[in-house]
Amino acid sequence: MEPEIMPIPPGQELRELLAECDLLFSDLGVVGDRRFFGCRRGGRLAGAVGIERYGAIGLLRSLAVAPRWRGAGLGAALVAAAEAEARRLGVRRLYLLTTTASAFFARLGYQRTARDDAPPPLCATEQFTSLCPSSSHLMVKRLPA
Ligand SMILES: CC(C)(COP(=O)(O)OP(=O)(O)OC[C@H]1O[C@@H](n2cnc3c(N)ncnc32)[C@H](O)[C@@H]1OP(=O)(O)O)[C@@H](O)C(=O)NCCC(=O)NCCS
Repeated sequence: MEPEIMPIPPGQELRELLAECDLLFSDLGVVGDRRFFGCRRGGRLAGAVGIERYGAIGLLRSLAVAPRWRGAGLGAALVAAAEAEARRLGVRRLYLLTTTASAFFARLGYQRTARDDAPPPLCATEQFTSLCPSSSHLMVKRLPA
């Protein structure tokens, strides 16, 4: 059964999930063209993802699935939902930074690209400048119109 993925606020519940998944989130309160989605299991937030939009460029961020719910397709479904929303918003290239999940994203069509090649709006985000270490991999996927 497809998980039900809904818009969620960048609030305490999301912070707790990101902390449980060892992701940093000090920029969650930053105002901008960004939105978050999540799905619930047993009344609690089990998985989440966010996208930030900079014109035709997007940043997929904060993908997290609580450990007990992993391996059941939630991560892939959340990425698909983020991509669908990004396409709806006119994003043509969706980027992400990851330290540990490159192979997961490669299976979903993302390709490694040099951090130096990141578009300028992404370089200014907190994800780039401080939250994701310089050792993290930049990946990109072209989205069909
Ligand atoms: C990455 C993550 C979201 C995957 O969630 P999930 O719900 O388990 O993903 P799915 O069930 O859709 O996919 C599971 C498949 O991906 C693989 N996979 C999961 N995490 C992986 C990783 N870090 N590296 C490589 N493969 C991974 C699993 O082995 C599994 O493979 P299989 O189908 O052959 O058994 C989850 O492991 C997570 O929250 N990790 C911590 C946070 C993180 O790294 N986020 C990404 C950076 S923003």
